[in-house]
Amino acid sequence: MADSQDSKLAVGPNPSPNRHSRKKWLIILAAAFLVIAIGLGVGLGVGLTRNGGSDDGDNDSGPTPTSSPLPTPTSRLAWRPKVNDTWQIMLLHPPSLNADAASVTPDVDIFDIDLFDTTKETIHTLHKLGKKVICYFSGGSYEPYRPDSAEFEKNDIGADLQGWPGEKWIKLGSENVRRIMKGRVELAHHKGCDGVDPDNVDGFQNENGLSLTADDSISFMSYLSNITSPLNLTLGLKNAGDIIKNVLPIVHFSVNEQCVEHSECSTFAAFIQDDKPVFHIEYPDGAGKEGLRANTVNKYCSREGDARGSDQFSTVLKTMDLNGWVETCDGTVMTTTMNETSPNH
Ligand SMILES: *[C@@H]1O[C@H](CO)[C@@H](O)[C@H](O)[C@H]1NC(C)=O
Ligand SMILES: *[C@@H]1O[C@H](CO)[C@@H](O)[C@H](O)[C@H]1NC(C)=O
Ligand SMILES: *[C@@H]1O[C@H](CO)[C@@H](O)[C@H](O)[C@H]1NC(C)=O
Ligand SMILES: *[C@@H]1O[C@H](CO)[C@@H](O)[C@H](O)[C@H]1NC(C)=O
Ligand SMILES: *[C@@H]1O[C@H](CO)[C@@H](O)[C@H](O)[C@H]1NC(C)=O
Repeated sequence: MADSQDSKLAVGPNPSPNRHSRKKWLIILAAAFLVIAIGLGVGLGVGLTRNGGSDDGDNDSGPTPTSSPLPTPTSRLAWRPKVNDTWQIMLLHPPSLNADAASVTPDVDIFDIDLFDTTKETIHTLHKLGKKVICYFSGGSYEPYRPDSAEFEKNDIGADLQGWPGEKWIKLGSENVRRIMKGRVELAHHKGCDGVDPDNVDGFQNENGLSLTADDSISFMSYLSNITSPLNLTLGLKNAGDIIKNVLPIVHFSVNEQCVEHSECSTFAAFIQDDKPVFHIEYPDGAGKEGLRANTVNKYCSREGDARGSDQFSTVLKTMDLNGWVETCDGTVMTTTMNETSPNH
C-alpha cells in the first residue's frame, strides 16, 4: 500500500497546496539539486586525480596524448573481472563443448574466445559451468575473412600488420569503421558475452600507413566504452601501454602480450594498482607439447627476475597460434579440446 503522504501529494483532496508547503518543496528540491551537484563534483574530481595524478611507474618516452575520456559509470555493470582471476585464451578454434557438458578444462574463471567463431550455445554452456566469457574481436584491423569484412571501405584501410598476411590497420576515427565495430559489440551482447577484448587498438605504436596517433586510439577506446557499458559488457585494453594513463578510468582489465619478453610489465602494473586484472600471455619457445622446463616457466613467472613488475598478473604460457594448450606458473599443463569443425583463423 502506498505511503499516505505520497498519495496525498499525487491525488490528494486538496490539489493546490498553500504557499508555505510550496516553499517547503522548493527547499527540498534545491537541497536535492545541491546533493547531486556535490556528487558530480566529487566524482569528476576522483576521475581527474586518478587520471593524471599517481605515479604508475611508466616513463615519459611515449607520445603525449592531449585528450582524456571521461570515466563512464561502470558501477552498474553486471560483472567485472577481478585481480588474480584465472583464465584461458584460445582463438584458433572455440572450445568443443556439448550442451550437457559437466566440466571444461581448464577449470578457470574466464574464457577469452573468438566472437565470430564461437556459437551462442557454447557461450551458454560455459555460463552453465560457472565461467565468464570475454569475446575477442579485432577492433583496429581489417581481416579479410570475417562475416562483415566487405563493409570496410577502401579509405578505411592502411598498411599490413607485420607478420599477419592479409590483415591491415584501419582508420579508428572513421564513422564507417565505428559503425562496423558497433555491430560487433551488439553481436557480443546478442551472444551473451560478459566482456569484449578488442585487439589492435595500438596502431599508433606501429607502421600503420594512416598516420594514426595516440589520440585516435584514446578516442576509439572512449567510443568503445560508450557503446559497451550500456550493454553490460566489460571492456579490456589490449596491449597499448602508452595510453594506459588516459583510458584506465574507462576500461576494466588489460590483456597483455609479452610484457616479460619486452621488459615492460611495470607499465601494465598500473591496472593492478587500480584494482583491475592483467590477463598476461607469454609465448615461450617449446610451448605446446609436454610441460616447459622449470627454468623457462621461471623466466616468465618469477616476479623477482625477468617478470619483475608482474605481481598478481594472471599469467598464461601459450603457443603463438593460441590453441587449447596452456601452462600456468605453477607448472600445470592443461589442454582445452578445440572444436575443429568451426572456422580456423
Ligand atoms: C621508456 O620505456 C620505453 C619502452 O617501454 C623504453 O624503450 C625506453 O628506453 C624507456 N626510457 C627510459 C628513459 O627509461
Ligand atoms: C545489466 O545488468 C544489470 C545488473 O545485472 C541489470 O539490472 C540490467 O538490466 C542489465 N542491462 C542490460 C542492458 O542488459
Ligand atoms: C591467485 O590465484 C591463484 C590461483 O587461483 C592462487 O593460488 C593464489 O593464492 C592467488 N593469489 C592471491 C594473492 O590471491
Ligand atoms: C562445433 O562448432 C559447430 C560450428 O560452429 C557447432 O555447430 C557445433 O555445435 C560445435 N560443437 C561442439 C561440440 O562444440
Ligand atoms: C563518450 O561519451 C562521453 C560522455 O558522454 C563523451 O564526452 C565522449 O565524447 C564520448 N566519446 C566518443 C568518442 O564519442
